[in-house]
Amino acid sequence: MADYDFDVLVIGAGPGGYVAAIRAAQLGLKTACVESRETLGGTCLNVGCIPSKAMLHASEYFEAAAGGAMAKMGIKVKPELDLDTMHGQRRDAVKGLTGGIEFLFKKNKVEWIKGHAAFVSADTVSVAGRNVRAKNILIATGSSVTPLPGVDVDNAKGIIVDSTGALELAKVPEHLVVIGGGVIGLELGSVWRRLGAQVTVVEYLDALLPGMDGDVRKEAARIFKKQGMTLKLSTKVTAAKVKGKKAVLTVEPAAGGAAETLEADAVLVAIGRRPNTEGLALDKAGLSVNARGQIETDHDFRTSVSGIWAIGDVVPGPMLAHKAEDEGIAAAENIAGHTGIVNHDVIPSVVYTSPEIAGVGLTEEAAKARGAVKVGKFPMMANSRAKTNHEGEGFVKIIADAASDKVLGVWCIASVAGTMIAQAAQAMEFGATSEDIAYTCHAHPTHSEAIKEAAMAVTGKPIHI
Ligand code: FAD
Ligand code: NAI
Repeated sequence: MADYDFDVLVIGAGPGGYVAAIRAAQLGLKTACVESRETLGGTCLNVGCIPSKAMLHASEYFEAAAGGAMAKMGIKVKPELDLDTMHGQRRDAVKGLTGGIEFLFKKNKVEWIKGHAAFVSADTVSVAGRNVRAKNILIATGSSVTPLPGVDVDNAKGIIVDSTGALELAKVPEHLVVIGGGVIGLELGSVWRRLGAQVTVVEYLDALLPGMDGDVRKEAARIFKKQGMTLKLSTKVTAAKVKGKKAVLTVEPAAGGAAETLEADAVLVAIGRRPNTEGLALDKAGLSVNARGQIETDHDFRTSVSGIWAIGDVVPGPMLAHKAEDEGIAAAENIAGHTGIVNHDVIPSVVYTSPEIAGVGLTEEAAKARGAVKVGKFPMMANSRAKTNHEGEGFVKIIADAASDKVLGVWCIASVAGTMIAQAAQAMEFGATSEDIAYTCHAHPTHSEAIKEAAMAVTGKPIHI
């Protein structure tokens, strides 16, 4: 340690990096974390998970009041939108949580080095004119928006924006065109639709939400259409230009064909994210990236260079905060000489629309490609709590191995699917069979009983359908 400044230097204070730094410090390692943003917490806390959920939550209340869901329960209100206050509570949430990480750094004696880090050599980075040498360097630099050629994002102008700009729109656009029917497009598209915008989603593929189970993708499209979104599937945007206060988009069928134009008051570009490695001078450390721009690691999060580790959005795998966090903990434990493991087969994903959409493990399509499966499905309409709450849309689907009955995947569309999926992930982590779930006592009346019934449906014996 004598000639090192730190045992561990983490680059990036997102959910991967800050969690890794705290765990490393907890394990007795002298730790610093470099972050170039003004506040800690990365994409997730500053411009991602947290502010988007603040707007989703608030807009859900607005729609429940304005759209008649409350009236159905005998509560008559005429809501008025105060968008400035809505944005204010979003900023407060971000401020509180990012400040909380600063407190945790102080509490755990993690030094925050402010500035942009670039490698000087395999064990040294330069930050704000200072060279910092560390025994272990953990790259947790996250990801940024993938640009779309021909479509220039200008968040300050607020007409063609990315997710950061879409969180900040100063007024509700009359017509919002979302490019990309993935997670960001559907979450932020839902926010502005609920607040009064007409929303058109232009998606290159023939279905929304790539990577999710086929039934879920079909049902999601039906639900979003019913909610009033216009879906233009198998369609690509070839250009978008700002003309005065509007944007004019050129779209054409993905397979080629006649182009048409769309006019919009705001355009959200949400076609994916790409790893942040620019400006890191990886070559000075002897590192390179793969064809997708990611830093490859082994099972322990070691890169090809001894002493350099990587986690989160900058490495392969789903770009999710909880995946980054778990990798951060595991990497820190490995650095400290413990055994840190992440089971990448059991990483839940949730789309926080209404209803929520969640899944863990294999899709039915992927499971079938590996061998014979049994599938149990249960509609939320037959779940007493969901039906009573007027939340009957969606279903739970459980995919189990035909021979062993081991659960391979669980998919839900339900008002609280994001909460429900945790029990499925835990069951899968313990190698549960569908029978294990079917014979677990679930409290009544809860939405989670639909998971039990879907498990019972794997053997064809649900009670309530
Ligand atoms: P990041 O959070 O991107 O953090 C990396 C940090 O490193 C950044 O703060 C960056 O400034 C810093 N950095 C980069 N390079 C350097 C450098 N050279 N020197 C110093 N600092 C550097 N995921 C979920 O699981 N749930 C959600 O609900 C969810 N919602 C989202 C909503 C939106 C709108 C977006 C955009 C993303 C959302 N995500 C969500 C994804 C989630 O934010 C990311 O998966 C997660 O933040 C990745 O964590 P990370 O630590 O790898 O990187
Ligand atoms: P995404 O990968 O989820 O969706 C992008 C969509 O854009 C895809 O459906 C893709 O087919 C489509 N697309 C690509 N190019 C296109 C083009 N030229 N024209 C039209 N459509 C095109 O990416 P998104 O929504 O940008 O989100 C980025 C990441 O952030 C995701 O990987 C996700 O994991 C993470 N995220 C997670 C959230 C959550 O967990 N709730 C919320 C928001 C983001």
